[in-house]
Amino acid sequence: MSRQVSICVIGSGYVGLVAAVCFAEVGHKVICVDNNEAKVNMLQQGIAPIYEEHLPEMLARHLNKGVTFTTDLGPAIEACEAVFIAVGTPQGSSGSADLSYVEAVVSEIARYVTSYKVLVEKSTVPVYTNEWVSRCMHRHGVEPELFDVVSNPEFLREGTAIEDFLHPDRIVVGANNDRSAQLLRDIYAPLTEGTYYTQPEALPGMCSPANPAKLLVTSAQSAEIIKHSSNAFLALKISFINAVANLAESVDADIEDIATGMGLDSRIGTRFLRAGIGYGGSCFPKDVAAFYWVAQQQGIDFQILDEVRKINAHQQEIFFNKVRAALWTLRGKKLAALGLAFKADTDDIRDSPAIDIIRKLIDAGVSITAYDPAAIEKTKAVLPPSDSMQYAEDPYSAAEGADAVIILTEWKEFGKLDLHRLNHALKFPIIIDGRNLYKPAFMQEQGFTYVSVGRPAVYSAQQGKPRKIVLS
Ligand code: NAD
Ligand code: UDX
Repeated sequence: MSRQVSICVIGSGYVGLVAAVCFAEVGHKVICVDNNEAKVNMLQQGIAPIYEEHLPEMLARHLNKGVTFTTDLGPAIEACEAVFIAVGTPQGSSGSADLSYVEAVVSEIARYVTSYKVLVEKSTVPVYTNEWVSRCMHRHGVEPELFDVVSNPEFLREGTAIEDFLHPDRIVVGANNDRSAQLLRDIYAPLTEGTYYTQPEALPGMCSPANPAKLLVTSAQSAEIIKHSSNAFLALKISFINAVANLAESVDADIEDIATGMGLDSRIGTRFLRAGIGYGGSCFPKDVAAFYWVAQQQGIDFQILDEVRKINAHQQEIFFNKVRAALWTLRGKKLAALGLAFKADTDDIRDSPAIDIIRKLIDAGVSITAYDPAAIEKTKAVLPPSDSMQYAEDPYSAAEGADAVIILTEWKEFGKLDLHRLNHALKFPIIIDGRNLYKPAFMQEQGFTYVSVGRPAVYSAQQGKPRKIVLS
């Protein structure tokens, strides 16, 4: 039988906010603390500061009931049994994770601990952070019997974050004693015992009362490494398929057929085998670098991770060269860019390959008109409107008078464009698709020159096939 736990979540970003509303959703009492006043003000009014499916409804359902938002850490710490730390751990110098936000939060928590608390690392952190958090608490004078530190890495993906949280593949708890592990078991009991899934309002998904979430308890070090190695392995899968795509393209094979053929082997699986312009986002690039650094610190040369990173960087260059090859010269050209977010279903542009490619094209003298269903506002903050960077309200106005379209993010709507309308808007019927959203033969029938990733390019009758296209 599950019990209600009082929880404090520090950080109301993609992870902290999702965790806070989901803990409220499964019946706990949550105070979410952030030092960004503007964000907290929005949240107190029920406005979600990020684009994430199900988040607005969940927030509305639990605001001021299961979850409250504040900038005031002290009362939140006093009221809770568990403190989840979900602040950023960006890439620091030399590739290591910058843990200064974590340290700042731990020092602050230490000021308010007067009874037993479990500090939970939700942020992605390198192995032994657990030890450092304990040491930091001691340094700030907190008695060892007043706290434990547990690692509980988060595996949610942006865009499906709420569903991933409530229907996880697994929950990992890295605890070095039973008392703290038990508190985490209590917190996740509605998911692991399946009681949440019996509720009429439960979000539907992969888990059910008969197939509840699985919880794995490990040592703190193992849990920290599970998180880094999972992200690194997924990044490796993407770089692997991108490397195969480049080979496929040079021998006129089709990477989509190859990925399907490989993925049908249940040992390999179909997911994370989509070739494209390389992975981006706030996690894979920094976590691959941080994991490489962790290994280096232990005297281990984890070379494959460096290759994963290099292939990923090269993938963007290859795409840039494809654009150049399709247009001959770049200076003075006008392109419609479809997609700014680092992936579909999010407004997050952190480390977005789309933004990197756009910047490079602008540097080469191209003017861009971009459209994205969710990420335009965030992009305007880093690429303000100018002569070379314009924003459109839909894909067709972005394409008006453009020399070509480039597809940079895998939004579903970009795979269902009205191609007749698009063709009409464009100066030339050329699409360079970094996300393989269409079949080449179909695009040729529609009258387009269509260049994609890991598949032979096709040429419209009007454009004709060039004798040689330089790809890299
Ligand atoms: P984010 O930048 O969206 O959110 C971090 C929040 O912490 C911000 O709102 C910031 O204002 C707040 N904050 C910083 N210092 C604070 C302090 N001293 N007191 C109170 N609040 C403070 O970050 P995110 O994307 O949610 O990532 C958080 C962590 O989770 C990172 O370690 C990341 O690697 C990990 N993670 C992220 C994802 C993801 O998809 N974004 C998935 C799994 C794990
Ligand atoms: C990732 C992890 O998947 C998640 O478990 C972790 O908690 C946070 O980091 P996220 O960054 O939200 O999640 O997105 P994800 O769906 O993993 O995609 C990351 C990047 O890889 C995106 O740029 C995406 O476009 C790219 N990608 C993904 C591919 O290029 N090919 C694929 O097959 C899958």
